[in-house]
Order: sequence, then C-alpha cells, then structure tokens
Amino acid sequence: MLKISLVLFSLIITLSFFGCNAKPGSKNVFELDNGWKFKEGDNLNYAKPEYDDSEWKEINVGNRWENQGYDKLDGFAWYRIKIVIPSSLKNNAEQKDSLIFNFGKINDFDQFFFNGELIGANSEKVKPGTKVTDSYKNLDHSAWNVDRRYSIPSDNNLIKWDKENVIAIRVFDLGLSGGLYSGELSLSMPQLNDYLEININKNNFNITGKMFGKTILISNRSGAYKIVGNLEIKIENNIDETEIFKDKFSFFLAPEEKKEIKFRFNKTNESTTIQYKLAFDDNSKIQITEGVPYILTPPVKAEPQINGALIYGERPGKPFLYRIAATGKRPMSYKADNLPKDLYLDGKTGIIKGKVKNTGKYDVTLTVENEFGVDTKLLEIVIGDKLSLTPPMGWNSWNCWGLSVSQEKIYDAAKAFVDKGLADHGWTYINIDDGWEIFGESDEPKRSPNGEILTNKKFPDMKKLGNDIHALGLKFGIYSSPGTLTCGGYTASYKHEYQDARTFAKWGIDYLKYDLCSYRKLMNDQNSVKELISPYQLMNKALRSIDRDIVYYICEYGNGKVWEWGESVGGNLWRTTGDIWDDWDRMYEIGFGQVESAKYAGPGHWNDPDMLVIGWIGWGPNLHQTKLTPDEQYTHVSLWSLLSAPLLLGNDLTKLDDFTLNLITNDEIIAINQDKLGKQATPIIKKEGIEVWKKELSDRNIAIGIFNVSKDNKSYKLDLKKLGLHKAVTLRDVWRQENLGEFSEFNTKIPSHGVRLLKILLN
Ligand code: GLA
Repeated sequence: MLKISLVLFSLIITLSFFGCNAKPGSKNVFELDNGWKFKEGDNLNYAKPEYDDSEWKEINVGNRWENQGYDKLDGFAWYRIKIVIPSSLKNNAEQKDSLIFNFGKINDFDQFFFNGELIGANSEKVKPGTKVTDSYKNLDHSAWNVDRRYSIPSDNNLIKWDKENVIAIRVFDLGLSGGLYSGELSLSMPQLNDYLEININKNNFNITGKMFGKTILISNRSGAYKIVGNLEIKIENNIDETEIFKDKFSFFLAPEEKKEIKFRFNKTNESTTIQYKLAFDDNSKIQITEGVPYILTPPVKAEPQINGALIYGERPGKPFLYRIAATGKRPMSYKADNLPKDLYLDGKTGIIKGKVKNTGKYDVTLTVENEFGVDTKLLEIVIGDKLSLTPPMGWNSWNCWGLSVSQEKIYDAAKAFVDKGLADHGWTYINIDDGWEIFGESDEPKRSPNGEILTNKKFPDMKKLGNDIHALGLKFGIYSSPGTLTCGGYTASYKHEYQDARTFAKWGIDYLKYDLCSYRKLMNDQNSVKELISPYQLMNKALRSIDRDIVYYICEYGNGKVWEWGESVGGNLWRTTGDIWDDWDRMYEIGFGQVESAKYAGPGHWNDPDMLVIGWIGWGPNLHQTKLTPDEQYTHVSLWSLLSAPLLLGNDLTKLDDFTLNLITNDEIIAINQDKLGKQATPIIKKEGIEVWKKELSDRNIAIGIFNVSKDNKSYKLDLKKLGLHKAVTLRDVWRQENLGEFSEFNTKIPSHGVRLLKILLN
C-alpha cells in the first residue's frame, strides 16, 4: 500500500537548498545584471561607499573575467555597483522583513560589503562588526560551486531607501576561471516560499524488497511568519506514462518549525520522475522534480568472467603491472599461458608483474576458474612504445575531495576498488589530484635543500602509499603543473621538471596529470600553440628519461586545439574542455561537443572530456549526491563510453549506492569504452532533440547511442537503412545485456535527457 505520513521533524541540521526554483514576481525583483565596475588587486578602501571608482573599468557578470581581458589574473579583484533601492520594492512585498541579494556563482571566494559593512562571505552571514580578514579563503575547499545569496534585514539602517547604495564584492581566485561567472544576479524582497527550506534528499532512496521509501524535510526558516500551503507529490513512469503514485496534503509550519514527510511506492525498472508541487497562501509556488533510480545492469554472476581491456601495452625494461579483471565467486584461480619471459603471475590474485626486456607482441591466454566454471580470453600484451592502448579507467580525487584530499582518502579509494569489486571490472588507476604539495603562500619550505618537492602533512609517506596501491594490483597517479603553482595555489614543477619526474618515479607513480594553471602567466601569448607545446614537451622528455612508464595526461582545457599536437609531445590523453560539474547543461555542452577532436583519438592517445560526475561528489570536504538525474547519469556514462573517453570516477567510493554501482560495473558498457579499435563515436543524426551517435567496434559490430537531449520524453524511430543496413539486423540492449530481436527500423521511447544504448550485431 502506498502511504504518506507526516511526522514531526526533530532538530536535525541538514544541508538543504533554499527557495528552490522560486521565481519571485517581477515587481519584487531588481536585476543586478548590468552596471558593475571592476578593479584588479586588493585594497579594503574599495569597500567604502565614498571610494571614487570612476576610473574603474566596466565588467560583465555571469562571465568569468578571463573572457574579458584579464586572462592572467589570479588572486584578488573587486567588483562594485551603485544602486538606488526603491522603497516601492518593500511596499509591494508581502513579506517585508529583509532584502535578498543573489550574486550567482563566484570563483573562488567572496566577501560581500554593503555600504561599507561586511555582510557575509562565501554565502554565509557574518556577525555585524566582524573584522575583515583573509580567512574567507578556505584553502581546503574552493567555494566556486556555491550560489551566493545574502540577506539584510529591511529595518537595518544600512539600507538607504530611495537613495544610492554601494555593493562591493571582494573576490579571491585561486587559479583558472575567476569572478562572478554564472547565474542571474538580483536584489529582491522575499516571498513566503523563500522561507521554506525543502530538502528532498536528492537521489536518496530507501530500498526495501519491492518498495522505495523516501523522506523529505520541509522547514520554516522565518522566525516571524507561519507558512501555510499544500504539497502535491506525483510519480510517473516516463516510458508508458502510467501514474505510480499521487497524493496531496496541506501543511502548516509555525515560525522555525520543521516537518518530515515520508512516502513509499513500488520499485521501478524504467525511467520514472517524482514531481513535488508546493503552493503557498501568498500564491507563490515551488515545483521540483526528481528522477527515481532504476537499475538496468544485471547482477554479477557467480560463474567466472574475464572483463576489461584485452590489449595492454608497456615499454621494454620498465616495471610491468597488470591485474586480471575477473568477476565471479571467490576463491578463484588464474592462469596465463604464453606470458613473455620475465613476467610472473600470482595464481591467487591474478596480478602479473615483472619486466620484459625486448619489444614484441604476445598473445596470452588468460584462464580464470572457480567452483562454478571456467572462462578463457586472449590478452594481447604489446611491449613497444605505446602506453594506454585503451582509455585509462580509474578514480581521481578532485571531484569529491578537492583540496581537502589526504593520503588516507586516497588509500580508502584504492581499498574500495578491490573490496567493492570495481577492480574486477577493469578499474585500475587511483590518482591524487591537486592539494598534496605545500601551499605556495605558506612559510614552510616547499622543497628539500636539494630541490626535491615536499608533500604536505596530509601525505606523510608517498612511497608507502605507492607500495600499498601496487600491492592491490592497482596503479598510482599524481598531479602537477608546469607553472610555479598549481591551480589550487600549491607548489608545482616549474624549473624542476626532471627532478620531479625522478621523484615521481621513486614514489612509484604510473600516471601524471600535468595541469597548465599558473604557467599561463609565463606565456606571452595565451593562444600561441608553440608556447603551449613547450612545457609539455619538456615534461615529456623528463618522463622518458626515468626508469618507469608514466602515462602522461596533458591538462590545458583544450587550448590551441591540443588534440592536433598532444600525441606529438607524448600525451596519452588530453583534456579537450574546461572543468565539468554535475549539471545537465554543463555535461551536455562538454560531452556532446566532442566532435572536432574525434579523429585524433586512438590507441595510446585519447580525448578527455573530463571526469565522471556521478555518485557522492563535492570538490571539498562536504559532499552531495550528484545533481544529475538517473537518466542524465545513464547518458553521461553511455556517452563517455562511446567517446572512448578516459573513465575517471570522481566520487567518494566509500559511499557507493546500488544505482551508482550499476552504472560503473556493466561489463558490456565498459567493453565498448575499452574496445581495442579505439574509435571515438561521432554523431550521425541530430534532429528535433534526438542525437544518434555511432561507434565502430573491433569485432565489426556497431554501438549506437540514441540520446534524447530535449526537455520532453520522446518517441523515436531509428531507420536502420540510414546507417546503410538494408537487411534486418539483430539489436542488443547494452545496459540490459539482452538481445531485442531483428529489426530494419527500431521504435523506442526515450525519457528527457535519457539514452537507449544499442549494439548492432553484424558479426
Ligand atoms: C583545474 C583542473 C581540474 C583540477 C583542478 C585542481 O581546474 O582542470 O581538473 O585538477 O585544476 O586545482
């Protein structure tokens, strides 16, 4: 039975969002999108209303300052705007107690001053009269992804109604993009719904047997107003459009009261959406939608199955490490026939180690066996010049831990790869991103007297960490920059390239992400390909001079069409874009924009549209469930697989839910990504919100992604003749791992932002 119950919520403080989707009536809103002035550098006098900013330049907000002539600027800068706040704003408002300021997102930190007084920092209020310091620059946790929202009580004498007021924002940028770069900026009076805090616990479902349980929290943030309204919850299957659940009830929240709402509904195995509609007594409304997770990947079988890449390259004379990825009930035994001389397999763990002296190609027969059966596959080992013959698969610390990363967190991720079975599907690299070095502004020495780079306190023993990761059969990655500082402001490799490469080799590093960051300040012309190439060439030489194979990742955000020259400077992969975050528009822009570079991808050299944003992420110590819906997450993983993109997880692996596991343990999806032909998919149809992408596979089969990138659920007919197929062909649903039958045209319904991933079986 579907049941809805309202329970008094005890005083638990939760992370939540405020006034979600609320669009205040126009008479209550004052736009702040134009009229801003800008000054590089820092001076606290800029906060003073009487300060003369007439010489300052104009600047656009909602756009990073790098796009507006300040491409080398990192560190401090100020924004100012003068506004007359009409008393009609207050007079027209139903709730008259405060003024609300929205400044959108700011890279990386901000302090907000109103008529000279510090009001808040990084979207948090500060006590009136708080001394202005630099402590708002929390170096462990950039606030780049936080929506800045401040309020000032409307009876505060600071506000000069019908007169000029001055807003000043002191910004500190750690590196890369800076300033007020995204969102709509406004000044408004609140509506009732602005006081309602609703926490739907996005993507958080309690699954018991055949039922899904959900708890949402609503609370009244106002100390003065009661909130009266009603909430309608409707759950609908997006494929057959049946209604799964519907209920409506009224609520009354006294000032500062909180309530918990629980409901249960039947588990779903198709795209499904929950709609929450809140209507308030002052006629304001909030509408929120949420996707319900549905699992398509069949459970792992007890019988043995060899997974992951079936081709692997190393260079002669360099340490060799390969872990046979195989699922199935343990204990399991491993065999490898025709291994090159001097490679040894541990028959209990499946880890192959050693050093091969000469170049050559070896067809190795892998066999895994357990009480349920045997599986055999051919692994091609190529001892030659190329690494990364298939796109790297692994985990990187940035999207979850940001600069708050530590040695312990890295080892936890490595352990999770093994304990949660991810390594059995081919997940291999465990990569530390920025934040392991000494901070550039710290008084501590950054390097030892002989120039060797030092780690900060959070990384007490890098060599041990490397050994521990290798003992699990996994590989170890690190991060640096060709500039003096990393993007997070930590020590980097400038003028120490060879020495750092040697240090990395000593620590057992297998993968280097080399991130342009502050090197831009050393360039005369940001667009000069010659200048971009030179630091990457230098580090490549350094890496080739050491006694280890290190996969080389060029991270310079696609500048100077890196795909055209990345391979020539030894790059195994390169970023083609700026950073990704967990938002449909951003993921769409990046993922579906990978067209021009497609022909440059291939074994040993891959285009990287940045890391996956699924699971628990957050770029700092406080994590949240990805804001992508389940359909968007299927699209994200399907597209990245088709694109032969490096698959780098960025989520907290100690918090893996069944849905996320289902996304990253589907061996047929992984096999498309790891296919040894190494072809990147390209779009073949783009029409009315549907995009069809095609990837050729080494076994002559074809993988096809039919994506619905529109806002509505859509029916679509794929005419296979358009793909040059004039006879009926067998289609396979890759996520469900089942053949669908023979078709000459295929009709399907695809939810908004969702995908149907098919394999055309021609072989
Ligand atoms: C840049 C990169 C990110 C991450 C951060 C670290 O933004 O693009 O992937 O490495 O730097 O500071």
